[in-house]
Parts: sequence; C-alpha cells; structure tokens
Amino acid sequence: MKKQYHYIRTGIFGLLLSTQALQAQNTVTFKTDAPTQTINRNIYGHFAEHLGNCIYGGFYVGDTSHIPNTSGVRKDVIAALRKMKIPNLRWPGGCFADTYHWKDGIGPKSKRPTIVNTWWGNVTEDNSFGTHDFLNMCEELGAEPYLSGNVGSGTVQEMADWVQYANFGGKSPMSDLRKENGRQEPWKVRFWGVGNEAWGCGGNMRPEYYADLYRKFATFMNSDFKDGHIFRIASGASDADYNWTEVLMKNIPLHMLQGVAVHHYSSVDWNRKGDAVDFTEQQYFATMKSALLTDTLIRKHTAVMDKYDPAKKVALVVDEWGGWYNVQAGTNPGFLFQQNTMRDAMIAGATLNIFNNHSDRVRMANLAQAINVLQSVILTKGDTMVLTPTYHVMEMYSVHQDATLIPVDVHSIDYTFGNEKLPAITVSASKDKAGTTHISLVNIDANKAQEITLDTHGQAYKAITGRLLTSAKLQDYNSFAKPNTIKPVDFKGASIKNNTISVKLPPFSVVVLELK
Ligand code: AHR
Repeated sequence: MKKQYHYIRTGIFGLLLSTQALQAQNTVTFKTDAPTQTINRNIYGHFAEHLGNCIYGGFYVGDTSHIPNTSGVRKDVIAALRKMKIPNLRWPGGCFADTYHWKDGIGPKSKRPTIVNTWWGNVTEDNSFGTHDFLNMCEELGAEPYLSGNVGSGTVQEMADWVQYANFGGKSPMSDLRKENGRQEPWKVRFWGVGNEAWGCGGNMRPEYYADLYRKFATFMNSDFKDGHIFRIASGASDADYNWTEVLMKNIPLHMLQGVAVHHYSSVDWNRKGDAVDFTEQQYFATMKSALLTDTLIRKHTAVMDKYDPAKKVALVVDEWGGWYNVQAGTNPGFLFQQNTMRDAMIAGATLNIFNNHSDRVRMANLAQAINVLQSVILTKGDTMVLTPTYHVMEMYSVHQDATLIPVDVHSIDYTFGNEKLPAITVSASKDKAGTTHISLVNIDANKAQEITLDTHGQAYKAITGRLLTSAKLQDYNSFAKPNTIKPVDFKGASIKNNTISVKLPPFSVVVLELK
C-alpha cells in the first residue's frame, strides 16, 4: 500500500514536472488545416506627412539641390524604399490633411500660395511639394498612393474635384486642369482617406456626426476608373474606442465603405513618453506591453466589424502605428524627431507578426512615419541617409507581402519584469508564390535567449536559412557617424530534423527563416 502510494505520488509529481517543463518551453505549430488567406502587401505601407523634415529634406529637396534627385525627390531615398518593397504611401497627413487644400499645391511652383502649418511648428509651407510631386514620386517608388482628403476644413466639392483631377481619363474641368499642369494620363489613385482622426485634430466630431459626413463625402467620391474601384477609408478610432467603430459600421452602408481606420501608437505612457534612446528596462517593457496591445485592439475592433460585416468585405486599416517618444532634445518640438533603436525593431517585428496573423481583416497599415518623424525607416541629414533598425525589419519581412498566411499556434514562455509578464515570442509564417516558406520570429525578452521548437505539421523541408537582427544593447541605434551598427546578418541558430525546427533566438532579436 505504502509502495503504491509512493508510485502515485511519484506519478503526480512527474506529471507536475512534465507540465511545468511543457510550460517552460516555447512551442510553435503550423495549423496546416486551418483556413488561410493572403497577407495583403499593403500591411507593409508607410506614411508621409507635411511634418518636420519628413517631406522637405526627407523625401524632397527640390530639383535645384546638389543632393542627387529625380524631379526633386532624393535618389538615395527612392532606392532604399524600393529595396524595402514599399507597397503604398499615405499623404499629406495626419492632422495636416484636414488643413490641406490640394489646389494650393498644383501649377507653377513660383505661383503656389504659402500657408502656415498650424499643427506642426507653425512653419511656413510653400506648397512646393504637391499632388503631382507626390503621385509621380509614388510611381518612381513603385508604391500605390493613399491620399488622405480634407474633411475637417475642406468641402465636398474640393474632395470630389481632387478625385476627378487624379482619376478621370475623359474630358472634364479637372482632367483638363491636370493636363494643363503637365500630366495627360490620370494616376488612378485607389486609396482615399475621408478625413483623419475626425474625433480629434480632424474636427473634434462625435462618431454619429462623422458617419453622416462620411456618407455625404463618399457619395461624391465616385470617379471610377478602368482598373478598379475607389477604396474609401473612414477616419477611424483611437486605440480602444470600440464605440467609434460600432457607430461607423452601423450607420454607413457597406457599399460606401471599403476600409475603416484605427490608430495606435506604442509608448511608455502617453503623458511621460521618455527618451527615444536613453530608456530603462522598465520603459522598454511598458513600450512592448503597449505594442502587444495591438493584438487585443485588432481582435476587438474586428469583433465589432464582424457583427455588421461577417463576410469581412471592409478592411481594418491601421493607418498610423509605431513607437512615440519625447522629441529629441534640441530639435523643434513640433517636428517629432526621434532616434530609432533596437526597441523600435522589437515594436516593428512584433506588430507586423500581429498584422500578418490578422490579415483576414487587417489588409492595410501605415507605419508613422517614413522619414525623420516618429518611428522612421530612414533618417536624413544634408546629403547623408541612415537606415534605421525598423527599416531592416520592414525589409526582412517584405517576404510576407502577398504570400499565403500559414496560421500558427504559439505557446510562449513569459518575459517578466517586476510583477508583470508578457509573452516573450511572437511568430508569423507564410508561403510565397514560389513555394518558399518564411517564418518571422521575435524575442522581446531583454535578457534571455529563447529556444523554440517548431512543428511544421508534416510539411517537409530540406533546407533552412535565416537572417537575424540584433545588437549588443537594446539602446543601440544607427547614427550618421556609425550607420551600420545594426543590420541583418546570417542566422545560424536554426536546424531542422524530421519536420521539427529548433531555433535559438538571442535576447531582443528578430529572425526571418527561409525554408525550402
Ligand atoms: O503622426 C503624427 C500625428 O499623430 C498625425 O498627424 C495624427 O494623425 C496623429 O495624431
């Protein structure tokens, strides 16, 4: 009897131990029988606002500049963004969009009126970068333009005219004007934002009022073009304002609505954002908590949208996201310039995994912002340019664009700080048109490496390679003096045996594996 008790006790103890052992492992399993979808390339979109040195000095230096340019747009920037496979670019704002009157930015540059950029530092905007400059630049970049229209201080007529100017191929007042200004063929702009942050800088509206305004504006944004239909995006909620999404979905007929936006910035604390470079582990942990919240926000906004649109026809468009810290000391507070460290690479890697895994509803997103503002992929100074850690993540993840999602089950060990914990790893996977599988893995743990066992669920692979992004310190960044401190290197920490992949991720690292 005593012996039997001993066995039972040993058995229970053993079971407890093995449960603990199981819990203390990172496991990933391909769900090869789950429904899947394409990861829309537009999830990897960017955002360029007339804010600080994003446009002027960032993208655009003018065609008389000594900096090599194509029609005034920096050649180094064009080459870098093409390499990163930028799929779309949102412009001209942001808050600026609801102060922008597009007709100020067409015609001879010397005759364009100036305005004051009231949202961003009260600087004088000379309108030298306007509609033609932006849309032609998008053609150079191979990116689809996403025009953010003015609802806050603009008129329905103004918006309708812009659509006709950009898209109408036949004879009309606006297409004639476009031709007079040197462009014969329409650009066929598909993506149009109907205002920006209508709950705030876009007009401080209530959702009921905005929903009605949206219906009115959208009615006149109807200039169809041959290769597709206009894709209108409603100004969306801030973070967890699910009521905003609910009111829009309830009150806007689905045939008038192709996308609903949402904005979420990751920060330590909205009122105490902290420095972009000089941060503690506590601040890092808080930022990652805010970044991982994206998953909950998407799930909950999606649940609201599913009620009114179970067929998922309307896209959730995360058209502003990224890390937001205190503006760099000594720079114009209205210009929102911040450095970009490994913390930002962690935000980018984890957030893009979340977007990929929700690509049934999230079909477009725009990192804020492309150059010299917030979580940039490029920083410029004079004629030099730096690619940030975030750039490298975007470039590494570009393999997922238009690939087929492989849904994954992830069991992660916790990354703990004080009394709080977060999952240490995030993962997403896809198979591209050539049949190559890519798996992106992020370990946000600031201190510990993570060993991961990945079950491919019967998918046989013969070869595995990978690329790794990490650095000596979380606070490291690429400076103008040392632009290559952080860049992707070959990853040797993965092996494959009998359809099981073993990976060891260093602390705070991003890895993209390629399997054939
Ligand atoms: O990206 C900076 C600003 O943040 C945008 O202009 C605005 O839409 C948001 O509040």
